[in-house]
Order: sequence, then C-alpha cells, then structure tokens
Amino acid sequence: MLVHANAKINLTLNITGKLENGYHTLDMIMQSVTLADDVYVEAAEGDRVTLSIDKDGIPTDEKNTAYKAALVFLREAGLKRAVTINIKKNIPSQAGLAGGSADAAAVFVALNKLCGDIFTTEKLCEMSREVGSDVPFCIIGGTCRAEGTGTTLKKLDDMPRCRILICKPDINVSTPVAYRLCDEFGVDVERRNSENIINGIKINNLYTISSNLYNKFEEVLDLSEVRRIKDIMLLYGAMGALMSGSGPTVYGIFESDDLTSLEMCRTRLEEGYSQVYAAEPASSGCVIE
Ligand code: C5P
Repeated sequence: MLVHANAKINLTLNITGKLENGYHTLDMIMQSVTLADDVYVEAAEGDRVTLSIDKDGIPTDEKNTAYKAALVFLREAGLKRAVTINIKKNIPSQAGLAGGSADAAAVFVALNKLCGDIFTTEKLCEMSREVGSDVPFCIIGGTCRAEGTGTTLKKLDDMPRCRILICKPDINVSTPVAYRLCDEFGVDVERRNSENIINGIKINNLYTISSNLYNKFEEVLDLSEVRRIKDIMLLYGAMGALMSGSGPTVYGIFESDDLTSLEMCRTRLEEGYSQVYAAEPASSGCVIE
C-alpha cells in the first residue's frame, strides 16, 4: 500500500506555558502541504519490522518514527506481523516540516487499513502521541488548531487556495535547545494571531491569514539565514513568510494566480539554496493511493 505523507507548516506557533514534565503548552495553527514522502507499507505473516529509506543519514531502526509507529500499532492491536516499510523521502529532515511525523502517521494509517480498520481515527491519534507530538496532526491533517502539548486538535475549514514556496537553509536547529531558549524569553499568552487567522479562514481572506503569521521560535532563535530567506520571499511578492516549527525551514505564501512571482522567487532562492520546493495547502495529512 502506498501512502503520500504530507509535510506540515505552522501558520502560528506560540508557547503558552510549561508543564511539570518539561513539555510545553502550545497554541498553533498547523497546515498540511502537498510536499510529501511516499511511504510503502506491507504486512505479512511473521513478526519483524523492516524499514528502508532512499536517503542516507536517516536511522532505519527503532530510532526512526516510522519504525516506532509500526511497533506501537502492533502492540496496541495485539498482533504479530512482518511489516515492511519503504520510504521515498522528499520532505527535508530536521526541518520543522514534521517529515518524520508524517512518515509515522502514514504507517499508522496504512497498517490500520491493511488490518481492516480496527481502530477509529481518534484511537490512532491517541496511540500515535507516544511516537511524537506532531504525529496526531499528520494523521488528521488539513488545517487544524493545536493546543495542549500540540496533540489536542480542532479541525478548521480548509485555508484559501494559494501557492506555498518552501526553502530549507543548510543549518540545523535542535528542538529541545530551541525550547530552552524560549524558556529564557518567557511566555506571552495575549497573542491573537491564531484567532485572527481562524477569522481569515472563515471569511476566506488570504491577506488576513498572511498578515497574522507568527512563530515564537522564529522570534527567539532570530537566525540570519531565516531573515535572509524571508526578505527574499517578501521582495519577490510573497503575501507573508514565516519559519515553520522549530525551523530552520521558511515558507512564503503567494496568491494562487501569481505563478510568475513564485517562479521568479524560486529561481532567486535556488541561487543560494539547494532545497527549494513549490507546494499548495492540502486538505488531509495522509493520502492512500
Ligand atoms: O514529541 P516530540 O518528539 O516531537 O518532541 C521533541 C522535543 O521537543 C521534546 O523532547 C521536548 O523537549 C520538546 N517539546 C516540548 N513541548 C512540546 C513538544 C515538544 O517541550 N509540546
């Protein structure tokens, strides 16, 4: 079975507090985009999970979220199966695009289908939290407001049609380190960006959405590469631009009929960056082919 596992971007990401277990409470609007990994999943008689990925440098054992997802699914289902997972990676790793979480979500969705839909989507989301905070969103997908530790999801209407240009600079950001830096900055709970964007979605107004993008990590990390990419995107006609998740990937929102600006911006970015992708909003997280 082939599942297209969509990446996510954050339209908003604010940190609203810190729990005793060290995790943070968040207020986010998450959006699936059409930049996707192809995840092939098969189940047969036996009891071994095997994983292969068409790119070097990504673990293929229990450390991999897709591998973990298979183990958690089989344990929860009380089943023994030989699960074979092959991933064609298109989403950059360690990028703030939930690439690993998208692969895990695809494994949950595929195994559930292959095993005769034994779990509801709600139950799949619940068990998937163990694999990573972004996995439930990647199962549900589309446009969601996420609160709690990022796993309490409310599905919103689809965002308006547009084009999304994605650029990953060649730098690495550690998510736990980014959270620690945010702790030093303190929380600001008064932000209205998510409410304003929800309103923008209701009235189908891309301008309201683009002018209310916000990411606490972007503000706190203040990376020069991120500033540079945002400046280029805005100069070339993006309606808004933001770093996604804990970074370092930046995306820009372009009007859907403004292909010329997007292509000129893409060409300009490709002069300095090797990972530049054009995508669109997607209305689901995983698409079974
Ligand atoms: O759940 P996930 O594996 O995506 O989390 C990675 C790291 O991000 C955690 O170890 C934790 O340091 C941090 N995190 C957090 N609060 C959240 C989600 C993640 O502090 N709500």
